[in-house]
Amino acid sequence: MVGIFDSGVGGLSVWREIVGQAPHLHTTYVADQAHTPYGGRPTHEVRAASRGIARWLLERGCDVVVVACNTASAVALQTLRDEFPSLRFVGMEPAIKPAAALSRNKVVGVLATPATLDGALFETTIARLDASLTIVRQPCPGLAEAIEADAPVEALVARFLEPSRRAGADTLVLACTHYPLIRDTIQRLAGPAVRIVDPAEAVARQTTRVVESLGAPVERGLEASRNDFSTSGDPERFAQQVQRWLGKRMYVQGLRWRGETLRALASKSGSEREARNARPEPGV
Ligand code: DGL
Repeated sequence: MVGIFDSGVGGLSVWREIVGQAPHLHTTYVADQAHTPYGGRPTHEVRAASRGIARWLLERGCDVVVVACNTASAVALQTLRDEFPSLRFVGMEPAIKPAAALSRNKVVGVLATPATLDGALFETTIARLDASLTIVRQPCPGLAEAIEADAPVEALVARFLEPSRRAGADTLVLACTHYPLIRDTIQRLAGPAVRIVDPAEAVARQTTRVVESLGAPVERGLEASRNDFSTSGDPERFAQQVQRWLGKRMYVQGLRWRGETLRALASKSGSEREARNARPEPGV
């Protein structure tokens, strides 16, 4: 089973790629909305939350965990790999290399949370690249929060695109998983000549490869394809957000933090949950 987590709705942009490429997989999604946004939090808090979610997913029977959040990948991925050797982790990496290959003028804008751009992973990724490449680093404080709240984003996006536009960037990397959810708005404001790179497709391919390398769990998944959704925030609100971004009405399990441990709130019976999430509800 594949666990997928983010601070909120952003990881749904990765979930839809994974399920699009491998509809047979059994997935379980955790939105840590009690801690959203991760992007403005200190490293130790994002690490503690990521660790608690990984433990929860391990207890649910996951063998692969997709850290569908650039911020958590930047600050917690190595810790997770060190502390949970029985789990295989797939993380988000700022897709600057593919963007550099696409760019004609070698000027690439990177939109991300402040924490992602400050992280060591970003510096390591940049250091591996051709020095002739110009990278416009654009922290976007408040943008993931606005997407999370389904608030207007146009003014923020226009402001955050301005430095890349002035530098003449012909390619933009969406280095926060919330941003692909408003890709059409970003494309419209950036203009049709600008190419947009979303790493979700590559992350989904990597996830499928890792699952296949484990062999048996894929076969189990084939028999029992199912998608579970859960949140440490308000389950009804998250169900509405899932419907908004995936076009599907799904049952959402409520979770609560007790210190650094996640616990499930009382929920519907397992069979009802399975029946509801095996397929979209009628009329959706
Ligand atoms: N979706 C996340 C990311 O990729 C986190 C946004 C946030 O919580 O600040 O960075």
